Amino acid sequence: MAEATGFEPVRACAQPIFEIGALVHSATPPNLLYYNGSMRLKHLFPILVYFFLLGLGAGNHLAYPQEIVAQESWGLFATIPPGEITQGSVLGTGNAFSAGEIVLPIVGDMLLAHVNKTYALPASYVPPHLTPITAVPTAGTQLLRSSVLPYLYQLFGAAENAGFNLSIVSSYRSYATQVATFNYWVSRYGYSAATTGSARPGHSEHQLGTTVDLGLAGKSWPTGYSISPAAGWVAKNAHKFGFVVSYQSGKTAVTGYISEPWHIRWVGIELAIELYKQNLSLEEYLSHQ
Ligand code: DAL
Ligand code: ZN
Repeated sequence: MAEATGFEPVRACAQPIFEIGALVHSATPPNLLYYNGSMRLKHLFPILVYFFLLGLGAGNHLAYPQEIVAQESWGLFATIPPGEITQGSVLGTGNAFSAGEIVLPIVGDMLLAHVNKTYALPASYVPPHLTPITAVPTAGTQLLRSSVLPYLYQLFGAAENAGFNLSIVSSYRSYATQVATFNYWVSRYGYSAATTGSARPGHSEHQLGTTVDLGLAGKSWPTGYSISPAAGWVAKNAHKFGFVVSYQSGKTAVTGYISEPWHIRWVGIELAIELYKQNLSLEEYLSHQ
């Protein structure tokens, strides 16, 4: 499974943008590191352009080139697709399940349902007590199970105390929404690439109503979250509030998905802490139950 493939274009394409910074920081040519009186307009020009673009509001693009490129190279899969993409455009609802897939029975609260590339929720499954997320910034109306909201708000409060203002980019997604979402990515990058970052309908943890995709407050998508210090903070602290990062880096061979530092699922504090301590993904835990 192509974790490296997923991020290769990001590194490759980020390079030219960082070269602007390299002019400032690099030791070669040395006369750009310390002004020695010989700086000419042609040296100053890229720096002036850089700040001009920042002023134009292109700062996000310059500050987070990887994420921008990732969007273009199927690295990020958190968005709700544009409206014109119809559910039937690539994959009709009728053929979402191929032979060999297992549809999970609905038992209990499904908080620990083993939803992955093999096991799917029934198309008709809707989690209980879906409630709008109101206390923190969201991209449009976002729903989550009411029982998870207090933990989410605590997480956001702790993040804010640590200096990170998070937002919710996506949370509960119905089966139908996931059909549209998955179709969108297939239409852009092809079926095979799409499956490494977007769950097929029925296979998304978002359908459980316990899962959110995080972003940075006040920034439009892509927000720069995944390469920001906020992502590092969440990776180290989400478990204290009962959340796991479902698709961690280094676990692609296990989960089948590229690293998604923004995608967190609530499983309860006790389990989340245990998994964190043991460096286990939820997939590893559930597959050994
Ligand atoms: N991006 C994750 C895998 C989802 O679509 O649920
Ligand atoms: Zn997600």
